[in-house]
Amino acid sequence: MSARARAGRAAWRTVRVEARAKVNLGLAVGPRRPDGYHELATIFQTVSLADQLTFRPLRSGFTLQVRSDSRQVGAVPRGRANLVLRAAHLMRENFVIGGAAIRLDKRIPAASGLGGASADAAGTLLGLARLYGLRPPMARLLELAVRLGADVPFAVLGGTALGLGRGERLEPLRLQRPFRAVIAVPHWRISTALAFRRIDAGKYGLTAWGAKLRFAQALGRDEVTALIGRRLGNTFELALGNRKRHLASLLERMSAAGLQDSRMTGSGSAAFGILPAGRSAKIVLSRFVGDERLYVVRSASPGSRIAVS
Ligand code: C5P
Repeated sequence: MSARARAGRAAWRTVRVEARAKVNLGLAVGPRRPDGYHELATIFQTVSLADQLTFRPLRSGFTLQVRSDSRQVGAVPRGRANLVLRAAHLMRENFVIGGAAIRLDKRIPAASGLGGASADAAGTLLGLARLYGLRPPMARLLELAVRLGADVPFAVLGGTALGLGRGERLEPLRLQRPFRAVIAVPHWRISTALAFRRIDAGKYGLTAWGAKLRFAQALGRDEVTALIGRRLGNTFELALGNRKRHLASLLERMSAAGLQDSRMTGSGSAAFGILPAGRSAKIVLSRFVGDERLYVVRSASPGSRIAVS
C-alpha cells in the first residue's frame, strides 16, 4: 500500500500516547569503550509521570507543536533537534507511512535524568506505528530505538529492566511490589556529556565495576524491590563537581521529609526517594523544605499507554 493510501485510511484517526518517564533505581557506570560510550549496569523503572503525544495524519511530512509550562522554556529542543521529529523521520525511512501533525505536551522536566526525551522518541515510534496500522516486531522497534539514543529501547519496552552495554541490552525484571516515590527536580541542570567526562577524569567508572556488574547480572534471577536496586548506587553522584553539596543537601531534606533511600536518577539533576508503604504523600510534601519541584509518582508498566479515537 502506498504512503498516500495509508494516509487516506488513517484519516479519521487520532492517536494519543502517554509517554512515561523513568528512574534509575541504581546506575553503575563502567569503563569507557573504544566507541566512546561507557559500559553501564542499571536498573530502569518506568514511573507514572508522563508527556502526552497526539498524532493526526497528514498526507506527507511531519509538523511538531510543543507545549510546555513556562519553567521549561528553552530546555525542550525545537525542530529537528527534538527527538520526536528524528523518530518520525526514522519511521518514514523504514516503513511505508504518510505524515503526521504531532503535538507534544511536555510534563516531564527536561534534561533532568528522567528520560523524557527518550520517552517521547519511543512514544513517536509506537504512536506512528499505531496511526498507520503497522505491527512491527518488538525486535525491529528496539533496533530503531537504539539509533535515537541509548535509553530509547528501554522507553519502548518499559516496566522494570536491567540495562547493560550502553544501556540498550535489556533484560526484563520482575518488580516484587509496586511502589510510590517522590521526585525532586532542582533548578540547576547537568550536561550528560560533561558528567561522563568527569567520571573518566576521576576514574570513578573503574571503582568496583566488576563487583557491581556481577551484582546486577545476579538480579535477573529474583524479583527485585525498589530498595535492592538502590544498592547499585549511582556513579553520577560522584561526578557533580561543585554541585555535590547541593545534591547532599537535597538528599538530606528528602530524608527529613520521610522519604527512604533518596538518590539521583540518571545523570541528574533530579533525585527521587521511596515513599514507605502507608505513609501519606501529602504529609511528606508538606514536610519537605526547599524550592525544588516535587512530583509524586507510582512505579508503572509498560513504557507508554496508547489510545485511538
Ligand atoms: O545515547 P545518547 O545520545 O542518549 O547519549 C548521550 C551522551 O551520553 C553521549 O554523549 C554519549 O557519549 C554518552 N553516553 C555514554 N555512555 C553510555 C550512554 C551515553 O558515554 N552508555
